[in-house]
Amino acid sequence: MESATPVTKLGLGGHSFIRELGNDPPAAFEEQCALVAACLDTGIRWIDTTYYQERVALGRVLGQLSRARGEARLTAWNFFREPGRENSLPGFTAYDQDSLPKQLAELRTDFLDLLVIHTRDDSAALHREIELASAWQAAGLVREVGLGMARLEDLDCLPTGHPITQVLAPYNAFHPHAAALFREAKARGMATVAMSPFVRGWNLDKIGGDRRVSAAILLRWVTSQEIVDTVFVSMRRAEWVLANRESEKRGPLSNEETALVREWTARLEG
Ligand SMILES: NC(=O)c1ccc[n+]([C@@H]2O[C@H](COP(=O)([O-])OP(=O)(O)OC[C@H]3O[C@@H](n4cnc5c(N)ncnc54)[C@H](OP(=O)(O)O)[C@@H]3O)[C@@H](O)[C@H]2O)c1
Repeated sequence: MESATPVTKLGLGGHSFIRELGNDPPAAFEEQCALVAACLDTGIRWIDTTYYQERVALGRVLGQLSRARGEARLTAWNFFREPGRENSLPGFTAYDQDSLPKQLAELRTDFLDLLVIHTRDDSAALHREIELASAWQAAGLVREVGLGMARLEDLDCLPTGHPITQVLAPYNAFHPHAAALFREAKARGMATVAMSPFVRGWNLDKIGGDRRVSAAILLRWVTSQEIVDTVFVSMRRAEWVLANRESEKRGPLSNEETALVREWTARLEG
């Protein structure tokens, strides 16, 4: 039986598999396989995929690794391949009947652990996507449904009986605004996913010095918070998996480390 307390809050971010968004060059296929294997070996089960390129890459890795399907928890968002724009990152588009089969084929799986719907201002359109997700869930093709880039005000716009059990939003020392969303979501019984602990890694560069030291502190800023259930972090190297697990185990920041984070955020904002 699965323990109620997860081994780790860490989940692998899908941007690990693509060159865009600061990950140039992308990790070699062998490194991607080592990375995913290291995650599964250390109890990191959630693996996020936002763009279709990430789903294709992860599907290839999972095919190579031949791990039991139940070891990983696969997440997919509504960002799809657009003909003629295969090498760019398209914006999100509404789910339709054809969307889930595409995601499953790209990931080489027959179900998703978490289907993420990107939030939108058009609540009638969002409700149609939620209805579709409910039907997929009832058919056993989707285990959970999440609201991505969620905002606090979205929680009051969800339809009665909605299937949303997770909210996902960027949340880190530099962008802490999702705290109110996470608090309210948890009060309503939902789980929370904090994304981008290092703002795509760019803020590690801006802070300067040893990236491993700043990464360890910024990661713990997120993982030690009770309002956060899962943290999606991108990693192109298998060695970051153990490093990040070790950081997480060290728990809350000391007063000195908290002061350091304040100094970094003030400096980068200024
Ligand atoms: N922010 C958003 O709007 C958004 C939207 C949808 C989904 N997401 C999800 O959130 C995930 C994570 O966010 P992100 O990709 O923006 O970036 P991030 O996780 O904040 O930062 C990733 C960078 O951190 C570096 N890193 C990781 N562990 C490290 C360590 N121990 N020491 C030093 N450097 C380390 C990686 O370096 P290397 O390159 O050397 O590995 C990588 O470049 C995404 O992959 C995606 O799944 C985010």
